[in-house]
Amino acid sequence: MKLLVIGGGGREHALAWKLSLSPRVHKVFVAPGNAGTALERGLENISITSIPELIEFAKQEQIAITVVGPETSLAEGIVDAFQAAGLKIFGPVQQAAQLETSKIFAKEFMQRHHIPTANYARFQDPVLAHEYIDQKSTPLVIKADGLAAGKGVVVAQTNEQAHSAINAILVEKNFGSAGYEIIIEEFLRGTEVSFIVMTDGCHILPLATSQDHKRLFDGDLGPNTGGMGAYSPTPFISPSLHAQIMRNIIYPVINGLKEEGINYTGFLYAGLMITAEDQAKVLEFNCRLGDPETQPIMLRLKSELLTLITHAVNGTLDKVDAEWDRRAALGVVMAAHGYPEDPRKNDVIQGLQDLIIDQENTDSFHIFHAGTRMGGNDEKEIMTAGGRVVCVTALGENVRIAQQNAYKLIEKIHFDDYQIRHDIGYQGINYQRKK
Ligand code: AMP
Ligand code: GLY
Repeated sequence: MKLLVIGGGGREHALAWKLSLSPRVHKVFVAPGNAGTALERGLENISITSIPELIEFAKQEQIAITVVGPETSLAEGIVDAFQAAGLKIFGPVQQAAQLETSKIFAKEFMQRHHIPTANYARFQDPVLAHEYIDQKSTPLVIKADGLAAGKGVVVAQTNEQAHSAINAILVEKNFGSAGYEIIIEEFLRGTEVSFIVMTDGCHILPLATSQDHKRLFDGDLGPNTGGMGAYSPTPFISPSLHAQIMRNIIYPVINGLKEEGINYTGFLYAGLMITAEDQAKVLEFNCRLGDPETQPIMLRLKSELLTLITHAVNGTLDKVDAEWDRRAALGVVMAAHGYPEDPRKNDVIQGLQDLIIDQENTDSFHIFHAGTRMGGNDEKEIMTAGGRVVCVTALGENVRIAQQNAYKLIEKIHFDDYQIRHDIGYQGINYQRKK
């Protein structure tokens, strides 16, 4: 059987790799993929990206199921188009993807269905937004309504920062039409975790829990990024909190959408703040897997991913369970010089080829590529091609040992001026130490 994965980041490398491990699968195409998916056994990159061409390709190659990685494709309606062409695809339709593509849609939906989240107000008029800020005390969170590649959120510590965020989005239009409207949100304190599930629109299969590290520098300082590393499972989600999240958040989302006539099929990611009282509140929804959370989650998944996705596409997700490696997995992102503002490209990366050979003989680590491409001498060198370059992901008996294993692997990889955080997993490790 042949499969197709849409996207070219670390999340898609991890998905395609895991799908390729099923004996029934003889090839996984990745569109457009990266150097990691080009070199991986059983995977093949294709360079087409437009939806009509992808549909043509899926028909010609008799692709059994297509799996969508990035939100941009979902927002463009790739699932609607594939389904209209009679093709099987895993991901939410455009209308369901609004949970991520419009923060206002998500907020109003949560309000209608009593799903716990920060209080907010919405504004199109900058004058009214400025007035609102003057009545409030900071910190406050300002968010552009639409997709802004993780850059449309400002946590304003001072009124001045809040005013300039309003101007940047509503007046200077830094995010174009994604910033036609904003929300101004109450600042929530607590621990941030990622809670990701698969759903067929009716049944829900939670994936292993995880925690991302969004800031660039150690200790959660510096600018926000797409994610500098993640680990799974996170000790911050106890069994009772897990049940609370399913009961108060995940089921009400899927059932609420169904009541409103929207069938949500795909991965659903809830970014949650766990408050000091152990209450989970929604920061955001993503209508896809997290990156880099997917990399440690896939390394821990023992069940066949293809089986889970097939059941999800066929509406029988209640018939399967996911089995997880009891070890922890931890991934550290090696990012390019200048990331996230202005990442430098075309640096040669050393050390990856040997690791590709090593990782074929072990299940205990995998290097997932993101911004890489083949280039240089005879197209045989691996070069940087984006902000987040690779996610070095390793298993270990606990989060601390998984962390040590990941950082040992990083010593074998080099490119000029790479950036890493040195403390991925620290919150989980400290929590376990205190227990
Ligand atoms: P979002 O894209 O909505 O998840 O926001 C990006 C990041 O901003 C989140 O990962 C949080 O770290 C932070 N954030 C967003 N909303 C809030 C909030 N209401 N309170 C505190 N931090 C927030
Ligand atoms: N790791 C955060 C995200 O995927 O949005």
